[in-house]
Amino acid sequence: MRGVFQEDDRKTTDNLFGRDEEIQNILSKLITRDPVFIVGYRRVGKSSLAHAVSNLIVGDHFAHVYCESGFNNTGDIINRVKDTLNSKIETRTKSFVVGKLIEIGLSKTKADRLIQEFENSTIIILDEAQRVTNSGIIDDFLTWVTKHLGSTTRVIITGSEVRLLHGLFKRIHGNPNRIITIYPFEQKVATDFILKGFEQNDFPISREEAKEIYSTLGGTPGAIIAAAEHIILEGEDIDTATEREKTTEMKMMIEELNNIASEYTVETQSFVKKLSINEWQIYDLSFFTEDEKKLLEDLIRFGFIKPNEKGYIVYDPLIREALKEWGGVI
Ligand SMILES: Nc1ncnc2c1ncn2[C@@H]1O[C@H](COP(=O)(O)OP(=O)(O)O)[C@@H](O)[C@H]1O
Ligand SMILES: [Mg+2]
Repeated sequence: MRGVFQEDDRKTTDNLFGRDEEIQNILSKLITRDPVFIVGYRRVGKSSLAHAVSNLIVGDHFAHVYCESGFNNTGDIINRVKDTLNSKIETRTKSFVVGKLIEIGLSKTKADRLIQEFENSTIIILDEAQRVTNSGIIDDFLTWVTKHLGSTTRVIITGSEVRLLHGLFKRIHGNPNRIITIYPFEQKVATDFILKGFEQNDFPISREEAKEIYSTLGGTPGAIIAAAEHIILEGEDIDTATEREKTTEMKMMIEELNNIASEYTVETQSFVKKLSINEWQIYDLSFFTEDEKKLLEDLIRFGFIKPNEKGYIVYDPLIREALKEWGGVI
């Protein structure tokens, strides 16, 4: 599929939808040269974002490395990075980058400054870092980068498992402000995303239909694209495709919820009831046990629950459904 519905995660800012704020946030963190962590549950858009940001500021000069559980030592990662970088030719052009940065909402001055900051930089994306079970390997890799690639190299690490947070982040640079959580699209952005994607693939739908899709499937871009693929490429009707993808997505989410919760002693039903009691707006943490608070913190970190001005909120309709099913709450 074309445009924002492109099915893989090698996105550029041209076909990445609705993440301008996240891009700016990542750029401002990358400037300080320490590694940046992008976390969130599966299919929410971590890899695409890392790819688009890298492409934006260094053109072709980045290595997108998918970690493998078979990476048993630091050398495995280093070799993969070297291979990837060696096969690249430099393609960035300054004026192009400035234009793109202005498109995502930066002023000309800021864009110019960023270009200077990242001049001759290289980026390494360590994608799915949770697959490297021994966090010492990543630790050593970062040390190697600093020592051998110098200060022009930046590292972006993505991960979708809580183990990553609890193991890796505590050991290395566990500074919370280096971590960026990716949340699902909220209603308006999701609806616009759906409309645009269908439109770009010569399959225009109405705003009402787009809203319907969102209310069933939520704002996880990967889930929306998977459903759209069945509709656009296979001619399936919207309701069937959306419902089926909903089942798939909910299963994945529940798996992830179980994963996260396995670290704590929490009674899931009573926990979910506490979350949902005020229309999924959480005002007051004093009703939660210590373990529930820790679980809540992880759910926030992985994008299931979002902080807002009143406390925390579960806004995504599919995450609500998944939580209800998980907790056995009707
Ligand atoms: N902001 C976005 N705009 C357009 N497509 C997106 C966006 N975020 C994710 N996608 C698409 O959704 C799918 C899943 O995204 P991906 O980046 O692989 O998620 P993750 O790395 O979090 O598992 C991919 O096909 C990707 O192209
Ligand atoms: Mg990914």
